Amino acid sequence: MSVLPVRLVGADQAVPCVDGSERPYLSLDAAASTSALPAVVERVNEFLPWYSSVHRGAGYKSQISTAAYEDARTAALDFAGRSDRDDVAIICRNTTEAINHLAYRMRLGPDSTVVMTVAEHHANLLPWTRLDVSRRYVECGASGTFSVDDVVEALDSGPVPTLLAITGATNVTGWIPPIDEIVEAAHARGVEVLVDAAQLAPHRPLPATADYMAWSGHKMYAPYGAGVLIGPRAAFVDGDPFLAGGGAVDLVDLDEVIWTDPPEREEAGSPNVIGAVALGAAISELRSFGWDAIVAHEQELAERLRSGLAATRGVRLLGPALDVPTLAVAAFEIDDVPHALVAARLSAEFGIGVRHGCFCAHPYLMRLLDLPRNVVDQYREDVRRGDRRRLPGAVRASADLSTTTADIDRLLAAVAIVADGSPAPVTYRQDTATGDYWPEGEAAPWTSGNRSLGASCSRG
Ligand SMILES: Cc1ncc(COP(=O)(O)O)c(C=O)c1O
Repeated sequence: MSVLPVRLVGADQAVPCVDGSERPYLSLDAAASTSALPAVVERVNEFLPWYSSVHRGAGYKSQISTAAYEDARTAALDFAGRSDRDDVAIICRNTTEAINHLAYRMRLGPDSTVVMTVAEHHANLLPWTRLDVSRRYVECGASGTFSVDDVVEALDSGPVPTLLAITGATNVTGWIPPIDEIVEAAHARGVEVLVDAAQLAPHRPLPATADYMAWSGHKMYAPYGAGVLIGPRAAFVDGDPFLAGGGAVDLVDLDEVIWTDPPEREEAGSPNVIGAVALGAAISELRSFGWDAIVAHEQELAERLRSGLAATRGVRLLGPALDVPTLAVAAFEIDDVPHALVAARLSAEFGIGVRHGCFCAHPYLMRLLDLPRNVVDQYREDVRRGDRRRLPGAVRASADLSTTTADIDRLLAAVAIVADGSPAPVTYRQDTATGDYWPEGEAAPWTSGNRSLGASCSRG
């Protein structure tokens, strides 16, 4: 008998709705951040009395803290399937920092080429696009997918790339590229691969053959501010680290520095030991659930969510066909109802938290929405004038280990009401600067005085 779904910290927290009632909050925004697993909070609370400096103290508590930190590092390597290689796990803040770290560390120059896909989150685009390197992209089809052959074509269509930077699962459609075959094809050409595993890590086993991997604790039930970059030790042995400072050195003179060995070389400054402990606890809890149970649970949710949305009148599901397996993530549009208004109504009237907008993946969204260039240019002009009202986008619902089939049905029922064309029970006003909607009226806390609560919920 599966232990899933699990209750996360804060489950059933009541939130106010515009009809004056309170409803148990339904978070369907796991692709953004998940609540904590109880075992994670327990482990952190158990550790806190022992909290002290890491790698910076001879005292007993410092020894305990350092050991806890290093245990988390070992757990991360193990979770990524890398215990038997000479790899390092660099503990950082999140996936974004991990990829920026790698982009700095790889020392790429005008002779280097990075291949990315158009399905990437900005965290796996912008660190590469701001480098002085050549870039090529794997295009996607109308359903937001690409094949191994498409990747091979991009790899082969010019000078041999140094790196393929690719997502392990998209945060928009939940589609999971055939990453093992892609890594194999890249390696056959001498190309290293970075997998952005921000979405993959909490939901599927990580591809152990990838050279580099990055993921975030806050998307895998450990919201204490730690993430991980995994890569071969050799990649971090030479050259100056991304961050310079204490803890990263063996000797410093005013005009000379001897950097220490990785991974410490890459972790200047006092590390986030609480975040690391939380991450380690989340890893061990996911292991105890087992991938079979996790995948089975989430597949059931994915099918119900995506087929339910696709069958709802007035709803257009973005992304791959229903028979293509995805994470329990769905991006959708509702005819004639702006995405920001859909999200506002789901929250204010139904107590359901989803995300809307372009999900930090603008190039991918432009393709999924099939927006012509001139239309995109018009939006760009609007944004330059500080007007975000017409920004294109979609609504995204994403589930996690706590989600039940009843939760999915609750969302589907709410979406059907928003999509059926009947007027909303209150009037919503759109903010020009953010593009977000807010209900008019004074039903606490949906009062104008609380407007700042909802400011800017769809930044890219
Ligand atoms: C696929 C993907 N990559 C990278 C990131 C960035 O993660 P973080 O905000 O934790 O740095 C996200 C966050 O949504 C994501 O979904």
